[in-house]
Amino acid sequence: MSTFAKGVLKGKNAFIAGGSSGINLGIAHGLGEAGARLFIISRKAEKVDAAVAELRAVGYEAAGAAADVRDYPAVEQALRSAHETHGAIDIVISGAAGNFMAPAIGMSPNAFRTVVDIDLIGTFHVLRASYEFLRKPGASVISITAGQAVHPSLFQSHVCAAKAGINMLTKCLAMEWGAAGVRVNAISPGPIAETEGMSRLTPTPESVAALKRTIPLGDYGTKRDIADLSVFLSSDSARYITGAIYDCDGGSSLSRGAIVEAPTLPPR
Ligand code: NAP
Ligand code: COA
Repeated sequence: MSTFAKGVLKGKNAFIAGGSSGINLGIAHGLGEAGARLFIISRKAEKVDAAVAELRAVGYEAAGAAADVRDYPAVEQALRSAHETHGAIDIVISGAAGNFMAPAIGMSPNAFRTVVDIDLIGTFHVLRASYEFLRKPGASVISITAGQAVHPSLFQSHVCAAKAGINMLTKCLAMEWGAAGVRVNAISPGPIAETEGMSRLTPTPESVAALKRTIPLGDYGTKRDIADLSVFLSSDSARYITGAIYDCDGGSSLSRGAIVEAPTLPPR
């Protein structure tokens, strides 16, 4: 973490949905290192307990609860617990998601609905239920979207539809909540190393190598890359930023799957 980030979130309280693994747990580490108190939720109590123990072991103030983002009363209860534990919530991260590769004709209506329910309706639940517990003015809300929101992708119709909804929800709530001093933004990670998402989308060494050839910066990103952007967007340095969707993707959204080659100059 840069010196800029050290302590910039001291005294702030963060709520991280889907915070028990992967990118969102990486964000929790970044926010914790920047000084925030942490409250995480996800479906599985054992994953939440393990993540809370991991965060405490490195010295952060952390708590959590098991809650499924598809269950609005459970999300509301978790936010109430976070509020009772730490006080008014300054930072919300909504990152719970589900993904699998399947063509539309290989998906039951329930399969499509499941991803939309977790990603899009779940994000609405987290944001809607958080409003009453947010510090106003001053709170920052960040949803985790993906490039599929704007780039149609084979065998990802459910994710494309759900993440596109998250992008629009981000902009709509930024308009509605600005007057209360609440900023609403989203981060769109590119391919991030050592995550469940990428192990589902590129399961073989060949598919990893092929994807890397399409990334202008030439490699996968790290959880730390997304954590650092989350810290910045949650900090007072981003006080005039709302309704923005930040690509943090090594340029992947520019090449959109085309192979990127370094330019070669003709001999003089
Ligand atoms: P991950 O480790 O599987 O993270 C998903 C998290 O959400 C887990 O903590 C999971 O824990 C939780 N979760 C799943 N369903 C839930 C539900 N119904 N209610 C509450 N929590 C739930 O995957 P990841 O790859 O790090 O992805 C994290 C986020 O980044 C997602 O929003 C994903 O779309 C986005 N993203 C990832 C990449 C990438 O390169 N991996 C790229 C672009 C965007 P439980 O199993 O305990 O519920
Ligand atoms: N292809 C087609 N359909 C699939 C599928 C696949 N690979 N995987 C699951 N489904 C279908 C199921 O068959 C079911 O439909 P049905 O009831 O008509 O049979 C529906 O999706 C729901 O599956 P279920 O396993 O009951 O859902 P769940 O709520 O327990 O789990 C998932 C949600 C499917 C998204 C699961 O993969 C998950 O828990 N993911 C979280 C981790 C993750 O995806 N991380 C990456 C984030 S980017």
